[in-house]
Amino acid sequence: MCGIVGYIGDRGATPLLLDGLKRLEYRGYDSAGVAVLNGNGVETRKAAGKISRLEAALNASPVHGNLGIAHTRWATHGAPNECNAHPHVDCKGNIAVVHNGIIENSNALKTHLESLGHKFVSETDTEVIAHLIEEAFDGNLEDAVIEALWQIEGTYGIAVVSSEDSDKIVAARKGSPLLVGLGDGEYFVASDASAILAHTREVVYLDDGDLAVLTRDGYRVIDLRAKTLERSVHKIEWDLHQIERGGFDHFMLKEIFEQPETIENCMRGRLLDEEGTAKLGGLNMTDEELLKFDNVVITACGTSWHSALIGEHMMEELTRIPVEVEYASEFRYRNPIVNDRTLCIVISQSGETADTLAAMREARNRGARTYGVVNVVGSTIPRESQGGIYVHAGPEIGVASTKAFTSQVVALSLLTLKIGRLKDVSVVRGKEIIEALRALPGQVKQILDRAGEIEALAEEFKRAQNFLYLGRGYNFPTALEGALKLKEISYIHAEGYPAAEMKHGPIALIDEMMPVVFIAPHDSVFDKVVSNIQEVKARKGHVIAITSREEPALAGKLDYEFRIPETIDMLTPVLACIPLQLLAYYIAVKRGSNVDQPRNLAKSVTVE
Ligand code: F6R
Repeated sequence: MCGIVGYIGDRGATPLLLDGLKRLEYRGYDSAGVAVLNGNGVETRKAAGKISRLEAALNASPVHGNLGIAHTRWATHGAPNECNAHPHVDCKGNIAVVHNGIIENSNALKTHLESLGHKFVSETDTEVIAHLIEEAFDGNLEDAVIEALWQIEGTYGIAVVSSEDSDKIVAARKGSPLLVGLGDGEYFVASDASAILAHTREVVYLDDGDLAVLTRDGYRVIDLRAKTLERSVHKIEWDLHQIERGGFDHFMLKEIFEQPETIENCMRGRLLDEEGTAKLGGLNMTDEELLKFDNVVITACGTSWHSALIGEHMMEELTRIPVEVEYASEFRYRNPIVNDRTLCIVISQSGETADTLAAMREARNRGARTYGVVNVVGSTIPRESQGGIYVHAGPEIGVASTKAFTSQVVALSLLTLKIGRLKDVSVVRGKEIIEALRALPGQVKQILDRAGEIEALAEEFKRAQNFLYLGRGYNFPTALEGALKLKEISYIHAEGYPAAEMKHGPIALIDEMMPVVFIAPHDSVFDKVVSNIQEVKARKGHVIAITSREEPALAGKLDYEFRIPETIDMLTPVLACIPLQLLAYYIAVKRGSNVDQPRNLAKSVTVE
């Protein structure tokens, strides 16, 4: 979604801002802009489309200065054109604002401001902020920003500069992530640490209701009553090379290939081999407390929701606690049965997804214990949840989630193992699960070594217009995930279904034009899936099967077979999803799609 970066220091702001914007490109955007204070006033440059167009505009008409703010926009109010791109300025062009989030009362505020004589030029909600600050301005920028923010309803992460109080950046956060980067005699503001990681690792995460005032001499965090707040400094643990492509054509491919390592990282230090259980540092609960829950609710969106479904299956199987999985966007608007005997597990790669965050808050307000399964360290969900596990997949830049998914499944298996062992799971069974977990990185590597086979398959199917993905048990969610990966990056229509459900409708779609991907490892439902494969074959569908063993009953029934190594049932999705990720990737590349930044999508969906 939208990205913010700001700089104040002694260096030229424009190249730093541009570099920061490029590092935020992965979040998805449709236009971009900068505002720099150059001693004479605020200079803005904006462009619709890629950052390269903004760069061209800046080359044609450079702006120089040591202080500025910049933005990548993902349109919500108004078309993605130059006029609607941020920064937005007030009537005099002295105040510039970049904004992530949505101002819900922007229409009412605009009407009021127009009645006072303010002139609006864009269709955005953001522009009201610039005019509100202008209206309140009396020589001190933070005071004016505070006055403006009291009038705003909605969510925001903002950065503001003014030529009339020209040696500072004022930033503020409510519902949209923002952090301050601390350099040596220079300061940054960003919506995402990757924008500034080339310059500093020391950051201060802002909480909702915080304002930060950055000058060349330091920074202050204050609240909406201008009272100074203490906020601790965090160190970013990941490296710049992790957010660079490192020789791969796309981030997505790099991230797919990182999975042996990221899965290892997720388990590192968390497996207790002798006791056959897991150690989870961030649980923040005693064993007794963990055993008190009557039910578990898992809430998430998109790919994280698919890992939630796998988590549901394994938890019910091993812990016998009833588990419900809810789309976060639905959960928050109904009257869910959640109370102080509910464990609410919240899964999110980014830790910032607006619906997921809201669902977590809703569950907590109803008394549930909240537990985050999150990748991005220091993001809002882990900071607001009462306990959690970082999945340690490292920065995921490709918009299509890959390595975060496999790490989420592994993290959920660790939690399941921990609770299961406190209940009925024997130490022998616990050790078997650990053994299977430990084998995963090597098994994933074996699959990746055969990526060329999937690439050849992609060549054969790259012109397909539809795909069906079918699986059962643990691999019904894998089917959903395979279909989501394909549709989001290749724009081919794809559906995931429980394999047996096919005959209740989707079977009507099957003919010689329909590729059907079966996820059919040798697990407890394998024989059932074999029957479903035969049903498809009888209707001339093209069967692509992900299997794990030779099966005489399937002889001659599969148009294409890719064997994955064997593992315990609950971990089969971790292996089965790898060829599906590769298939989606190679088909998308062969169709000429922008794999890392698919159309209309954003990496972190911070609006409702
Ligand atoms: C799909 C994808 C999205 C995200 C969803 C949730 O590849 O990336 O479906 O999974 O937007 O995002 P997080 O996990 O950051 O909450």
